[in-house]
Amino acid sequence: MINRDEALRRDAADTLAPLRDQFALPEGVIYLDGNSLGPLPRATPDRLAAVIRGEWGKDLIGSWNSAGWIDLPADVGDQIAPLVGAGAGELIAADSTSVNLFKVLAAALRIVAEDEPGRVEIVSERDNFPTDLYIVQGLSDLLGGRYTLRLVDSADEIPAALGANTALLLLTHVNYRSGAMHDMATLSAAAHEAGALTIWDLAHSAGAVPVALNDDGADFAIGCGYKYLNGGPGAPAFLWVAPRHVGRFRQPLSGWMGHARPFDFVPDYEPGEGVSRYLCGTPAILAMSALECGVETLLAAEPYGGMAALRAKSQALTDFFIECVEARCAGKGLQLVTPRDPARRGSQVSFAFDDAWPLCQALIARGVIGDFRAPDILRFGFAPLYIRFVDVWDAAEVLGTVLDTGEWLEARFVERNAVT
Ligand SMILES: Cc1ncc(COP(=O)(O)O)c(C=O)c1O
Repeated sequence: MINRDEALRRDAADTLAPLRDQFALPEGVIYLDGNSLGPLPRATPDRLAAVIRGEWGKDLIGSWNSAGWIDLPADVGDQIAPLVGAGAGELIAADSTSVNLFKVLAAALRIVAEDEPGRVEIVSERDNFPTDLYIVQGLSDLLGGRYTLRLVDSADEIPAALGANTALLLLTHVNYRSGAMHDMATLSAAAHEAGALTIWDLAHSAGAVPVALNDDGADFAIGCGYKYLNGGPGAPAFLWVAPRHVGRFRQPLSGWMGHARPFDFVPDYEPGEGVSRYLCGTPAILAMSALECGVETLLAAEPYGGMAALRAKSQALTDFFIECVEARCAGKGLQLVTPRDPARRGSQVSFAFDDAWPLCQALIARGVIGDFRAPDILRFGFAPLYIRFVDVWDAAEVLGTVLDTGEWLEARFVERNAVT
């Protein structure tokens, strides 16, 4: 029997519950959008104040050395690495996800072109996050239209789409709309079998599900700092390259920070050793410091079982939400688009609904913050660091009430904002 008491009982038994205190969550809000923008960690304002007043304010430019600012991209990268199955010294925090994708895409294509120039197809999914497809199109254009995107309509079609023409398999591990998760090991093996390399976008995976980049045989990965890593709006992203490719990684954005000796100020570019070559320009230290605080909220889960424990809770939360919504909102036009099998989804649950935008706005007006993805998806993220089972129950109740009363049909919920 599911009811609110059952939700409270599950919260009382939840060993991860104390981790919620790390966040400054506003009263009266159920925040189911941490898959889009993670909430503010309590530590972040003080950390930023210390960096601003104590480091920038006092030591000025000397802080690049005295406060270790220059090492921050690699240090934060080392903190993120274990969350995604990467080793120390393999991953760097820098730039945005889109820019990092441009970098790894160009570097990967160069490696393929050196070995087998006939491979000119990049296999991806039609419903991959648009920036991934746009970056391929822009880079191919820059390379004289040499590469073409081969888009499949379902994950089942991927193995058959890989062949002698395939240069790369570019996939987002957890789909931003449906929440469906790919099997990284199987698809990486299939790509390698076909002679292609893989790039994995971990925007909806890092900090949400355990990822095993090295063990699963991935070649390149990029990911986002402002979603489940709680790094703040526009936080730096990250970039990982399998150790076997590092020596051949040629940075297309060959800025001075990726140079072997940036402060020699010599006219010729020479890539730095290891991760430093993934950098382009001067790192955004304030944003990087906020990202560090965000990543620390996940590392704080280590004594409680780390990503494995977070994954177990996330699966229980998403199962419970599907159960609650299907019981409370049956026959109201919501169609589950997220895989029912918890092993095949990330940490979100999405429903298709004809008028998903006004329904989403009506929920937000009642304090349940999810989001809308065009054309008809209502998306709810369940970050196990701070979401409780009672939040799940209450959110489903509010959804049921909004559908029962029809208040989502009110004119005030129709107008679209610039950001959805
Ligand atoms: C899967 C995926 N990839 C890439 C991006 C783009 O990231 P950015 O705007 O930080 O470059 C997003 C943003 O939501 C995303 O969901």
